[in-house]
Amino acid sequence: MNTSELTLEMALTRGPVIPVLVIDRVDEAVPLARALLAGGVQVLEVTLRTPAALDVIRLLAHEVPEALVAAGTVTTPEQWEAAAHAGAHLAVSPGLTPRLLSALRSGAPTPLLPGVATASELMTAMDAGLSHFKFFPAQQAGGVGMLKAFHGPFADARFCPTGGITFDTAANFLALPNVACVGGSWLAPVSAVRAGDWERITQLARDTLSLGGTLTA
Ligand code: 3PG
Repeated sequence: MNTSELTLEMALTRGPVIPVLVIDRVDEAVPLARALLAGGVQVLEVTLRTPAALDVIRLLAHEVPEALVAAGTVTTPEQWEAAAHAGAHLAVSPGLTPRLLSALRSGAPTPLLPGVATASELMTAMDAGLSHFKFFPAQQAGGVGMLKAFHGPFADARFCPTGGITFDTAANFLALPNVACVGGSWLAPVSAVRAGDWERITQLARDTLSLGGTLTA
């Protein structure tokens, strides 16, 4: 995919479910990605929380080109640049810093989905021209009720809530008009990854996608 043509709206509506992946072993990356894709998932968030993360992004961008690969847990412009260089199509950050904002203004290497959890953070990010946000940590920061409250004053903002969401609660978020997709680690349980139980992961993805979504990004 040509990232210069990718918008966050396109990326998020390709969800509506984004697995948040913490991959320790590079050899698990491709089978895990293929298992998720077989279940209908199209966007994969590879968090920069392991030493293997950039190698995983590089490998997935090359070996699984049908996936849209997001680099997650991007907290600095340097990480953003490195992830883009490795082949990430977009970056996801748990928050938004002055340095990330400045990098955004001076030529972003990929689209950025920044995290917000309060009205002031949202207003700061909207001031920078952004319209799509990660709502993080979703459950802990007010969950469905908070997103409903945001919808009044910030009707144009669209969210991908992540943090504390489970298979059982995902549908409540997806039903909201300002939610484009949901993300979380429940889609790739460590026990299934370690056991190489790719069928379980495919089924989990399929079951989660059947929850649907309003796709109003
Ligand atoms: C994260 O960045 O950690 C995500 O929000 C995933 O959170 P979860 O593990 O609670 O799904």
